[in-house]
Amino acid sequence: MYKLPFITFFFLTFFSLVNCNQKPYAHGKIMYENFCVNCHMEDGSGLVGNIPPLAKADYLTTNADKLACIIRYGITENLVVNGKEYTTPMAGVPQLTDVEIANIINYINHEWGNDNGYTTIKQVQAQLEKCR
Ligand code: HEC
Repeated sequence: MYKLPFITFFFLTFFSLVNCNQKPYAHGKIMYENFCVNCHMEDGSGLVGNIPPLAKADYLTTNADKLACIIRYGITENLVVNGKEYTTPMAGVPQLTDVEIANIINYINHEWGNDNGYTTIKQVQAQLEKCR
């Protein structure tokens, strides 16, 4: 019986530490800073006229099933994001793993006030299967 308080204490400490240290999508943020920020910018606003925004971008929800493919293989077709057309192609980042792509997608879907839901690694892999 005397062990119970210790066990309880251990678990409470453990979970509070886990929660404090956990910045959501921290890894996705690092990946974004390495591979995307030059074009899509720190605040996700893109570059007027040339590079579409990710912050509050309707494209992220209307084309959620394409994001993994865009990140890995790039995209050349003209896109309309928030009512504006973009014609500059984007090169893919083929060295990113499936997990890294999922982390980036989850980061951009929850940053800058975006609230676009969670993407699993399985969903990323299923998408990539189709555009391989
Ligand atoms: C060299 C500049 C550049 C880099 C680096 C870049 N992009 Fe893009 N991105 C673009 C351009 C330009 C387009 C528009 C493509 C088109 O019109 O066909 C685009 C389009 C997109 C779109 C679809 C449109 C939108 O705004 O929602 C997403 C999503 C996206 N990029 C995410 C990323 C992510 C994530 C990364 C990092 C892994 C990244 N991009 C890296 C330039 C870039």
